[in-house]
Formats: sequence, C-alpha cells, structure tokens
Amino acid sequence: MRPFDGRRILLGVTGGIASYKSASLARLLTQAGASVDVVLTRSAKEFIGTITFEALTGRPVHTVLIGDGHALDHLRLVRGLDLLIVAPATADFLARAAHGHADELLSACLLACEAPVLMAPAMNDRMWANPQVQANVAALRKLGRTMVDPAVGPLASPDEGAGAGRMQEPETIVAHAGRLLEPKGKLAGRRVIVTAGPTREPLDPVRFLSNHSTGKMGVALAAAAWRRGAEVAVVHGPMTAPIPDGICATPVETTAEMADAVRAEVAQADVLVMAAAPADFRPAKVEGAKIKKRGKAPAPLALDETPDILRSTRDARRPGMLAVGFALETDHLLEHAKAKLEAKGLDLIVANSASEAGAGFGSDTNRVTLVHRDGTVEELPLQPKSVVADAILDRVEALL
Ligand code: CTP
Repeated sequence: MRPFDGRRILLGVTGGIASYKSASLARLLTQAGASVDVVLTRSAKEFIGTITFEALTGRPVHTVLIGDGHALDHLRLVRGLDLLIVAPATADFLARAAHGHADELLSACLLACEAPVLMAPAMNDRMWANPQVQANVAALRKLGRTMVDPAVGPLASPDEGAGAGRMQEPETIVAHAGRLLEPKGKLAGRRVIVTAGPTREPLDPVRFLSNHSTGKMGVALAAAAWRRGAEVAVVHGPMTAPIPDGICATPVETTAEMADAVRAEVAQADVLVMAAAPADFRPAKVEGAKIKKRGKAPAPLALDETPDILRSTRDARRPGMLAVGFALETDHLLEHAKAKLEAKGLDLIVANSASEAGAGFGSDTNRVTLVHRDGTVEELPLQPKSVVADAILDRVEALL
C-alpha cells in the first residue's frame, strides 16, 4: 500500500518561477497514491501549462471560477478533500488568502475548504523579509494554515538570494503533507528524543574508534515520529543519512557528548528511543599530536569504558516516560536483549542480529525482534527500515 492511497489532494499553483517545481510535486503526490486535482491561477498559467499537470496527474486541470460552463467548481473540488496544498504561494496570493478574497478559483477553494491547508511560499528574499508579507503569514498561521517556510538558496534573479525566499524542495513539501494526512495518534504533540548513528572516540587528532552504524534506523524512526505529529529531537553522531526538515537535530561526536545532549532533553521528553550505536570504549589517553610510526609495534592501546547513556540518564527520566533501546547481538539474541531491558530500565527493546545479511548496520532493511517489559516477544519479518520504524512506533503508541 502506498502512503497516500485513497487520499484526495488539491494542489494550487500560483504564478511564480518556482511553479516549475510544482510539476515534480504533483508527480510525487500522485506516485504516493493520492488523487491530485490541480488548480492554476491566472498568473500561474503564464509560467507553466495545464498539459504538464494533466499528464502527470492523469486528471483535468482547473483554471476558471466562473464562465465557460463553470460555476460551482470551487465547491465541488473541495468536497471530501483530505488536503489543500498551495505551492508556490506568491506574496500576492498570501495577501489575498490572509484577507479572505475569493476573486478566482484557488482563493475561492481556500475559503470553501474544511481540510488542512499547507502553503509553500516562494518569492524574492527581500519580499519574504518584508513586514507586510510576514504579517500576512502570521495571520494565515493564526487561521490554522501550515507554512513550509522558504529556504535560503539560489533565487530567480542571479544576484539575489542571501536570505530565505526559495520554495522548499518537493520532497520536503511531501513530508509535510504526510504529517498533515497522518491520522492523529498518541504521539501527536508528544516530545520524542531519538538518538542515531555512531559516536567517535578520538585517539589523536587524526584517528578515532567507532563502529559501522550509519544512522539509517534512527533517522527512519525520527521521520516516522515527526510524521505522526510528534515534536522530535534527534541527537546524532557523525553520519550522512539526511535528517528531514522540521526535526531538531543536535550533532555530537563522542559518547560523553551524546550523553550530555540526551540528558539536556530527557526531562521534558515523553519518549526516548536510543537507536544510536555509541562507542563503548575510548582510548584512555588522547594524544594532542599525531602518533608517529616508530618502525616497531606501538604500545598496546589502553581503553576506558564510555558512559552508558541509557543507564546514566535513568534518574533524569520523567515518571511515565517511555524508554526504547536497541540490542545488537552476534549470539544469544533474546537472552542478551532481555538482560539489557532490565539493566537499562526499558519498556521495549528492539533486538537485531549483527551477522544477518540485509539487517543491521548500513542496510536499508532490518529484521528485528521486539521484547516487551511484560515478557512478550514479537518476531518481525525482514522489511524496509521505514516499515520497521512504524512497527516500533505502533508499539510505543500502544504503551503511551
Ligand atoms: N547504549 C547506551 N550507551 C552506551 C552504549 C549503548 O545508551 N554507551 C544503548 C544503545 O543505544 C542501545 C542499548 O544501549 O539502545 C544497547 O546497546 P548495545 O550496544 O546493544 O549494548 P551495550 O549496552 O553496549 O552492551 P554490549 O556492548 O556489551 O552488548
């Protein structure tokens, strides 16, 4: 099943250069399973043609409020609608929307619409910074409209663009659409901390101890929690997995830094998911200068244990806070996982094997066994990490 199967989305396109990106947005929404009706404003038609959208969505495109046999399209188009997206939303459209105009099809749809509304503004950076525009945006937010604020990046005019103004990428807008379409469960409005990736323990300025974690499982969990409406903070070690916009990310380097960052957040959190693979050992001595080869075997490396983050933050947890841990094992999976659940004071532990192909570090898929505090054990099949993330969060919502 695709994420937006059975959902009806109205995509309004207004007249800005960024409207070329709306074609790709229409395609992504359609590919995700949504039935997408496109409405172009008069000025949007100067930038992009109806045929492009008709081909991408497989549906007729709408441009006229009254005339040519059209009269009640604005009511018909929003009936049973799940989401209205305006991308790009120009400064002029934001002004008209903020003041309730209904002088063309898209503004009239907006007034008649009872579904959530998502707007992705795009304009010159000085226009976006203008207090008049910001006042309109504030008024729209107050009306309950969700804004995907523009990003900093190249604008239409090559000598402009030091500030924000560029429409967010279609993938980002789709992620926000997912958050609005997601049925509101128990995670909505809750504060969730997710840790992700490895940590690094320096040996000298150029070397470190670490592990093969890539952070993919943690990022999948953070993205899924965010889509479910949670306020998500990710504390992550060095990794390349991109963290979706909207999630508050704190990068750290060592296990001690990760412990500090988790401690700073944990008192306000409803859920802690420790998906990171913090390094368990650090060199007892960190050299200030690069260790040189001396033509003979170096002295054995003395190691200390790093702090155990779950254990060391146990007392700082709020009563009722849920703690989820992971257990990566090469042998005696269940036995070790159950021992860690007890020792670290967890509500749920996600056990996985470090030696199975297609699971664990770096893979896009994972096979996990969920062990609950009451002793229940659930074995899940090998599946994409995004699906595993949703399965874990389903259990978290049931426990909340
Ligand atoms: N963890 C932690 N602090 C550490 C190491 C691990 O909080 N310094 C967390 C991990 O994020 C995970 C859980 O503890 O959620 C279990 O991690 P794992 O590496 O499987 O176990 P360890 O406790 O490190 O024990 P061992 O290495 O002996 O298996």
